Amino acid sequence: MPYSRKVIDRFEDVLKNPAKHSVGRFNPNDADVATGMVGAPACGDVMRLQLKMVGNIIDDVKFKTYGCGSAIASSSLFIGMLKGRTIESAKQIKDKDIAEALELPSIKLHCSVLAEESIKKAIENWESKQPSLSEQLQEDLEPIE
Ligand code: FES
Repeated sequence: MPYSRKVIDRFEDVLKNPAKHSVGRFNPNDADVATGMVGAPACGDVMRLQLKMVGNIIDDVKFKTYGCGSAIASSSLFIGMLKGRTIESAKQIKDKDIAEALELPSIKLHCSVLAEESIKKAIENWESKQPSLSEQLQEDLEPIE
């Protein structure tokens, strides 16, 4: 099963220049960091994606993928699509956008699904870190001393 030139070039560049491709981690306990961790049931590969937020904007992204070349290339491409987007806009990126851009063969489509799942999980984590509406109302109603 041949990989496309795009997968090979991106995968090799990630290995050579991990910092350029945002490989790494933020502290998951920071209030402005959201973390999504997912595994691919088909093969056992794992991806961790982290967003650093400024308000509702994805200011920076880090990832670490323990997986095949397609998964690493997909992760890297995905990271480039996320920076500067809002959460709502990030939700619109689909695994098929990544698979098409990298010309993934059908047997490797689950590798791009891993990238899409990781952003879903990170967004869930981000939303769980936000104060609920009732908590915000409570804060607004606190008496000013
Ligand atoms: Fe597991 Fe690609 S073979 S993510």
